[in-house]
Amino acid sequence: MKITQTTQDVDKYKGDLVTYFVHQQEKKVPACDNKYVQDTIKLAFKAGDFSGKEGESLLFYPSGKGKLSAKRVLVIGLGKAEAGKPNNGITPADVWRDNYRKAGGKVSETALKTRAAKILAVVPDSFILDKQETTECLTEGLVLGAYQFRKYKKTKEEDEPQGIIKEIQLFTEKTEKPVIKGLKRGRIAALAGCTARDMANEPGNVWTPTRFAEFGRKIGKAYNFTCKVLAKADLQRLKMGGILGVNSGSAQPPKMIILEYKTAPRNPTLLLVGKGLTFDSGGISLKPPKGMEEMKFDMCGGAAVLGAMQAVGEEKPKGINIVGIVPATENLPGPSALKPGDIITIYGGKTIEVINTDAEGRLILADALAYGIKQYKPKAVVDLATLTGAVVIGLGHHRTGLLSNDDELAQKIMAAGDRSGEPLWRLPLGPEYSKQIKSKVADIKNVGDRAAGTITAAAFLQEFVGETSWAHLDIAGTAYNFTNKSYVPRNKPSGIGVRTLLELIRNWKND
Ligand code: BES
Ligand code: MN
Ligand code: ZN
Repeated sequence: MKITQTTQDVDKYKGDLVTYFVHQQEKKVPACDNKYVQDTIKLAFKAGDFSGKEGESLLFYPSGKGKLSAKRVLVIGLGKAEAGKPNNGITPADVWRDNYRKAGGKVSETALKTRAAKILAVVPDSFILDKQETTECLTEGLVLGAYQFRKYKKTKEEDEPQGIIKEIQLFTEKTEKPVIKGLKRGRIAALAGCTARDMANEPGNVWTPTRFAEFGRKIGKAYNFTCKVLAKADLQRLKMGGILGVNSGSAQPPKMIILEYKTAPRNPTLLLVGKGLTFDSGGISLKPPKGMEEMKFDMCGGAAVLGAMQAVGEEKPKGINIVGIVPATENLPGPSALKPGDIITIYGGKTIEVINTDAEGRLILADALAYGIKQYKPKAVVDLATLTGAVVIGLGHHRTGLLSNDDELAQKIMAAGDRSGEPLWRLPLGPEYSKQIKSKVADIKNVGDRAAGTITAAAFLQEFVGETSWAHLDIAGTAYNFTNKSYVPRNKPSGIGVRTLLELIRNWKND
């Protein structure tokens, strides 16, 4: 898909859809600087059909005198030009960033429904954001909203959008630097999110650990990263009993994918780790059949890390080294599968009593975290994982769970998530929780009791990060069932985490 800036006369644009964004006014017709469009808005307003409220839209077909040349005109309501108050960490600017994404998403949604392939959006003046951020967020919404995954669906359904967006143009009066920059940043972020969605949408029989590794290599090649893939023999040599244990019931060999973005050795390293469980049946502690198919999405943390690495490759941030690690395996109940009661040894020597083979994510992450920290001595570590059902009970599908041993890092990630429209909420850690995973026969066990399941899972991971600054993102509630927004596919992979990580990296300051 092409997305570019234009300064050419909107009236003369001959594409499929032109979009204007307008604010709601106090009992008045929303203002639009195109006279022809304004006249139609007035008619719709008088009919009581359109007031410019957030989420409202008006689609019409230009005709008569002074008409636009485009096939369709779409007017999107942005709501009132008001800032409001900060709410649970989300600032008015954060709200408006997401409003522009949602507005962009709405445009793409309408374009897909009407089969509009070539679209033009007139970048509005924002009362709160600068031109760069307005363009950036609008671009993200447009590109993320244009996303579709129809690879395996050959039959066409009447009620499904069947269009494809081929070309997006963003109109501004002049060719401005901030617009170019915003477009570029938005495009990089959104396409990286789409890459993560693409991986997650592939079914478990296709997106195996081997395919995951091939894709890691592809990204490495494309951006000149060092890519190392640890195969089963390497994992055995390194004594990574976590990933090997989880893998032992599967016919698909495990892989540990490592991508290194290097600037200079004196720069600090940020380590990203993502759970790449390509299918989680629960293993011997088998999950119930209902909804088990969704466990093909248990690799969304890994997808987020590779997506973020793609964005890093596109953007090449300065002053920081970034390493991405994805431990990838299936969790299946084959004849040599891990069993409850088994004791395994994680990389570095800690022993684990396996109580429940369905608490497998933490076992593969433990190897990856311990190995990554030993190998790269990172300044900070962020891991992302669809780790616990409990986080859905606590936070629902609207926020990612965040747990950290470093308040400053936690704060940075919270802010990055709020800015990205991927909000998080922090849960505590502490010795009282860590106590819940003490074992009588090994160093620790892989589950506590039912209480505080998200926290004890994180407390387990904490055992493998030592003193290193670390944050864990539990994305089980947001990875494929994220809160309802126009630019996020319903009940499908959202690409969560990618833009939060990118935002964190973009704002990284060395001290
Ligand atoms: N992948 C699941 C967590 C999950 C649950 C992700 C629902 C998305 C939606 C994880 O491996 C798991 O099975 N966790 C168990 C842990 C339990 C056995 C302590 C859970 O949450 O039930
Ligand atoms: Mn599981
Ligand atoms: Zn899992």
